Amino acid sequence: MKIITLLGSPRSQGNSCTIARRFQATAAALGAEIKSFELNRLTYRGCQGCYACKQGQENCILNDDLTEVLAAVAEADVLLLATPVYYGDMTAQLKGFMDRTYSYLKADYLTNPSPSRLSPKKLVFVITQGHPDETLFADIFPRYDAFLKWLGFGESHLLRVCGVGPSMDALPETTLLQADDLARQLVGGKNNLLAF
Ligand SMILES: Cc1cc2nc3c(=O)[nH]c(=O)nc-3n(C[C@H](O)[C@H](O)[C@H](O)COP(=O)(O)O)c2cc1C
Repeated sequence: MKIITLLGSPRSQGNSCTIARRFQATAAALGAEIKSFELNRLTYRGCQGCYACKQGQENCILNDDLTEVLAAVAEADVLLLATPVYYGDMTAQLKGFMDRTYSYLKADYLTNPSPSRLSPKKLVFVITQGHPDETLFADIFPRYDAFLKWLGFGESHLLRVCGVGPSMDALPETTLLQADDLARQLVGGKNNLLAF
């Protein structure tokens, strides 16, 4: 199983990266092949709205650091997107990637019952926010999940933590255990462990 992780936070050792890396480590220990991209270290542009991907081209025609990322996601079984909440949304780093996923949609995606160029995949969304009120910013996951379902991510999972700021002290152990559980569920190790 191939898992691609996209880290949307500029804080390499921050909350969302820590949760994503815990998921990765558990999945890797169960035999998954992991590739991780820290988006903040890459150089790329947002979608230019050129519509080349809807007018004869199957891929995004921009050639920058996201070219490899988009190709890797296309090859993956599971995509993990990790982001802190910035002004009620994902970070600009991750939004830049999201807009470029428009190239995964076929030219006739609005009417085609099978609109995506991608094979079916699973999604893990990691979202952390400073505000402790979990009713705030709860719209982020369902909003993007709807678009990602269109792209072929039929099964999706959310790991979300509220009330965690710049200090890492507040990151609850329960969240890291949830990340372990989800990795076992997706890679299949949970069943193996139960079998023993
Ligand atoms: C520019 C900026 C905007 C932020 N906007 C929000 C916000 O709208 N709502 C919120 O609850 N927290 C907000 N935060 C706090 C972060 O979401 C929070 O600290 C998060 O856990 C950081 O994750 P990280 O450690 O993975 O970077 C913001 C932080 C920054 C730096």
